Amino acid sequence: MGKVVAGNWKMHHGPAAAAAFFSRFSPRTAPDAVEILFFPPVISLAAAMRTVGVPAGFGVQNIHSEKAGAFTGETSAEMAGEAGARFALIGHSERRHIFGESDAEVSAKTGAAVRAGLVPVVCVGELLGERRAGLLEEVLRRQVGAIVEPLATASRFMVAYEPVWAIGTGETATPGDAAEAHAIVRSALGELASAPILYGGSVKPGNASALMSAPDVDGVLVGGASLDPDIFARIVEAGAAAGSADPVRER
Ligand code: PGA
Repeated sequence: MGKVVAGNWKMHHGPAAAAAFFSRFSPRTAPDAVEILFFPPVISLAAAMRTVGVPAGFGVQNIHSEKAGAFTGETSAEMAGEAGARFALIGHSERRHIFGESDAEVSAKTGAAVRAGLVPVVCVGELLGERRAGLLEEVLRRQVGAIVEPLATASRFMVAYEPVWAIGTGETATPGDAAEAHAIVRSALGELASAPILYGGSVKPGNASALMSAPDVDGVLVGGASLDPDIFARIVEAGAAAGSADPVRER
């Protein structure tokens, strides 16, 4: 299997802008060279799926842990699946740090996604202060430790390592930083260690190749640079090239 290149549009691109994106998105890659995923705003999911012109998977950026109920503004994993999502981002740093999601909530949402048959893409990552205080490994082990139980029955899942200080800041972890953190995540996953681990945080066409060539980096989760179809296509092409250099490995 090749690299995974995922675009997290965050709160950008309504339905019309999603359709406009796909009218211009045409990466020059062989169909199976790379797995392309999009996480549009849930309101744009249908427009995106209707207009996408290349093989790609779709997911939602967040789910609620309950199936249904009096939770105004929320979307359940079942509903996301019914609307065509196959993947769910869970525990993105903006959810954790702006909306106050705890490890326990991330764990509950992960379980909900697995039960609904969605592929969870669970985000983990340390704050700058935590990194400076030497807490990288402790934070990652705690965040991964909170999700191993719900993931144990998942037929497929991914983890995205996103150092919070590198998200939307233009600061990127070096390929060495990414490899170090990914090795910790893999070790913390224990028996689940064969899952793909993506890197996220200011991934751009200029650094995507080096990051995806680092040991243990199975793909990228791209925010800002996924909003422009030409720029994102270049990252997809970098993923295809990096993936073809990979030794064959079962995931
Ligand atoms: P960024 O966002 O690429 O804009 O840094 C990454 C993410 O939040 O997933």
